[in-house]
Amino acid sequence: MEDVRPAASLRAPLRLPHKALMGAGPANAPPRVLHASAQPLVGHLHAEALRVMDDIKDGLRYAFQTTNPVTLCLSCAGHGGMEASLTNLLEPGDVAVVAVNGHWGARASDMVTRHGSRVVKLEAPLGQPVTLEAAEEAVSKHRPRLLFLVQAESSTSVLQPLEGFGPMCHKYGTLLVVDTVASLGGTPLWTDRWELDVVYTGSQKVLNAPPGLAPITFSPRAMQRITSRQKPCSVYYWDIMQLGDYWGCFGNPRKYHHTGPVSLFFALREALAILAAEGLTASLRRHAEAAARLHAGLQRLGAEFLVPDPRHRVPTLTAFSFPNVDLQAVARTAMTRHGVELSGGLGPTVGRILRIGLMGVNASEDAVDNVLSVLEDSIKNPILTNKL
Ligand code: GLV
Repeated sequence: MEDVRPAASLRAPLRLPHKALMGAGPANAPPRVLHASAQPLVGHLHAEALRVMDDIKDGLRYAFQTTNPVTLCLSCAGHGGMEASLTNLLEPGDVAVVAVNGHWGARASDMVTRHGSRVVKLEAPLGQPVTLEAAEEAVSKHRPRLLFLVQAESSTSVLQPLEGFGPMCHKYGTLLVVDTVASLGGTPLWTDRWELDVVYTGSQKVLNAPPGLAPITFSPRAMQRITSRQKPCSVYYWDIMQLGDYWGCFGNPRKYHHTGPVSLFFALREALAILAAEGLTASLRRHAEAAARLHAGLQRLGAEFLVPDPRHRVPTLTAFSFPNVDLQAVARTAMTRHGVELSGGLGPTVGRILRIGLMGVNASEDAVDNVLSVLEDSIKNPILTNKL
């Protein structure tokens, strides 16, 4: 006799509806990507899996626009990219300057402190990026180990310009870490050209693979810092020296670190193959055009953008509100009546905005026109209570 009986709900096979994922992510994955994850399992150190990992490294170097040998995936959500960057670069007592203009900068600051390092917050109002001048003032004053920036602060949809920040940091011996979770593939990002030292993203946003992988790349400068640490990285799971050997980045025989999620690797490999086939330049253009169409449509509907300056709006995600409209009811109606996900706010913007994501396959004229007409209907005829 078993002590615990199986739940009745587990008797039926799993069935899920199709939804248009037009929020902050995950975005929809194309069938080719989903089918790839249903390929037969192979051992995570079998030749087939290692070949897929090599394809992923090549695909990521293309997406990140880098020749960095240490380019790989962490087996975790994009959030783990933040944790791994900070844990590998910082040691107790180090200083990190963190740009804070929304949820993700605030989270990175919290992490820095938890690691026993000192954070200097470089604050900007919600909806505005930090300026190069303000960053240089902080970096020249505090001479931090690293400067942390978020390219697409998804809680506000502000676009952080990055050009010039790398050379500025390097003038002071500081490394530049950039979060591109909500932007990579749909927003211009040139790791080598802009001298970025650590860049990470998430598999589930513009890349259109399922959640669960955090692609990351380390410049030779960042690796030099890591190899000259006084003590090894304090968290084994994030240790890039160990992970680099698992991913074959150092020219050594592959070494077991953890059991990689091979089915997710298959999916990401296909997602990167789709990006390579379209071409990054074409993908960037498509995202820019879709965003322009969305912004024009939102303006017609009377939306107020959280980011007032159109040059500072990230193409992959747009935050807005409508005066005197119940935004929660709008999101509920879009989902219930139309199967379309719109995101609400995050962190400091909770309850204040809606967010529409145009990520990967969802950055198309059809998807934009559909989400605008769903939005219009949901504003005009909202479902007003939670009792459906
Ligand atoms: C998650 O990334 C979000 O912005 O909601």
